[in-house]
Amino acid sequence: MRALLTVFSLAALTTLDDANAARILGLFPHTGKSHQMVFEPLLHTLAERGHHVTVVSFFPLKDPPENYTDVSLEGIARVGLEVVDLSFFENNHFISKALGVDNILRQMLDLHQLVEMALGTCSKLVNWPPLAAALRKDYDVILVENFNSDCMLGLSHIYGQKAPVVALLTSSLMHWSPDRMGVSDNPAYVPVMSSDFTPRMTFFERLQNTFLNVYFKLWFRYCIQVKEQEIIERHFGRRIPDLQDLAKNTSLMLVNVFHSLNGVRPLVPGVVEVGGMHLNHKRTAIPSYIERFINESHEGVVLLSFGSLIKTATIPEYKERMIMSALSRLKQKVIWKYEESGEEGTLEGNVLKVRWIPQYELLRHKKVLAFIGHGGLLGMTEAIAAGKPMVVVPFFGDQPYNAAMATEVGLGVKLSYEHMTEETLLAAVQTALSAEMRLSARRVSKIWHDRESKPLDTAVYWTERVIRWGFHDPLHTAGRDLNFIEYNLLDVAAVFVLAIVVVILILKLLLTAVLRLIKAGFSGKDKEKIH
Ligand SMILES: *[C@@H]1O[C@H](CO)[C@@H](O)[C@H](O)[C@H]1NC(C)=O
Ligand SMILES: *[C@@H]1O[C@H](CO)[C@@H](O)[C@H](O)[C@H]1NC(C)=O
Ligand SMILES: *[C@@H]1O[C@H](CO)[C@@H](O)[C@H](O)[C@H]1NC(C)=O
Repeated sequence: MRALLTVFSLAALTTLDDANAARILGLFPHTGKSHQMVFEPLLHTLAERGHHVTVVSFFPLKDPPENYTDVSLEGIARVGLEVVDLSFFENNHFISKALGVDNILRQMLDLHQLVEMALGTCSKLVNWPPLAAALRKDYDVILVENFNSDCMLGLSHIYGQKAPVVALLTSSLMHWSPDRMGVSDNPAYVPVMSSDFTPRMTFFERLQNTFLNVYFKLWFRYCIQVKEQEIIERHFGRRIPDLQDLAKNTSLMLVNVFHSLNGVRPLVPGVVEVGGMHLNHKRTAIPSYIERFINESHEGVVLLSFGSLIKTATIPEYKERMIMSALSRLKQKVIWKYEESGEEGTLEGNVLKVRWIPQYELLRHKKVLAFIGHGGLLGMTEAIAAGKPMVVVPFFGDQPYNAAMATEVGLGVKLSYEHMTEETLLAAVQTALSAEMRLSARRVSKIWHDRESKPLDTAVYWTERVIRWGFHDPLHTAGRDLNFIEYNLLDVAAVFVLAIVVVILILKLLLTAVLRLIKAGFSGKDKEKIH
């Protein structure tokens, strides 16, 4: 009987060991196209490796590989592509600037836009039959984006999902991520991701950083998590566990950063840096009119792009003229990603405005020397992978921090959009084009590439590791199960303080008693003298 059991459990072990043909569910309820661009290569590769992959997102593939099933969320919300109007960044927040709190206020306002997005989507997701159908099936692992929403975690619970959860992040850890893995985010040296601080902070920066660290956690808890919980419970008419506790059941986090670009911070085994996993190393063709323009440049080319979210054509006219006159003073040619340009680009002097650029392909072109970008993490990652120096003009979200880190690690220089002048822009581009900066960018690129395995392979390995071992292989610290008081040792500190107070009181009592005795002794002697 015993032998038979052993054989059975051994058989169970070998099937456990085998991550082949696992059933994988991906849940991606965010509308930003750039986010999906980070996940796609991983999902694609998992399907190519023989797994059965079901992907719920706003961006179904045109040409899905075998065993890859799309569940579309199209129609639930407007997708985020070229939606940010640049006129928004003119002269705003001037009252807060007068009060000296514009930096804090910017970060609060930036994030606040995510509330409506999360709650709007969640209230549609609860009643989306294709999603319900997908959630009723069984899976071996669930991949879910960790961004501004935990709605999917609640829905997975509603439909009885028991598989381990892998959280994917397109940026560095969100303010509310570290608590899910019990990883330290001590604000003394870990800047909040929306700040423009580097890990070395002054007293006032630490003050702001600590305030924001706490504020954003509470903000996520009460402005999003609690409300999503209400949306789900109201729709299904029953209670579910606290979303915060469901979130603390995350097995693994794959984070789209790498320390040599994004800064060193404490990690645990279950928080794995896979920055660069979205890069497509296959070469794609450059449109011939762009290639011809590059071929014809003798001094090289500078690339200018503010990414996929910002609609560059909304730039105020005076600012566009200013940028154009700065660029016209360069020896180099310039390619500017600008939506409202001709079919084959619009040529103005040495500047070619084009609707769409194969950005990573161009950055790797040997004649492309520098990159003026907005500090979006994907563009930054492409620049460091290609070893090209940057001028970073940050706008919102994590861009100010990315800009600060680009300066810190020697990848480029940062430039304020608001205070940009013809002279500062020209000077910044010339700094980026200098021999020292180009050399420095090549060096940080080599350091960034130097890893045990390629980021996509790392992501696949850890995902399959979770498929193999699931809850048998905890990758978080016990810190995540402690409450605020325990985690920060406030109870222990209280006991120490109490103990010190008690000791002081006892010492004081003893001292008074001794003094009284001595006094009594003296007065006794005095009396003897008199007699
Ligand atoms: C797709 O799944 C089927 C059934 O599990 C399997 O036989 C086939 O090899 C898979 N295809 C790929 C490309 O892995
Ligand atoms: C995490 O989820 C698994 C599967 O649903 C469950 O067995 C386990 O108890 C959960 N752990 C916690 C701490 O909630
Ligand atoms: C650009 O130059 C390369 C290398 O000299 C050449 O192969 C390519 O055909 C040229 N492209 C165009 C569009 O002129």
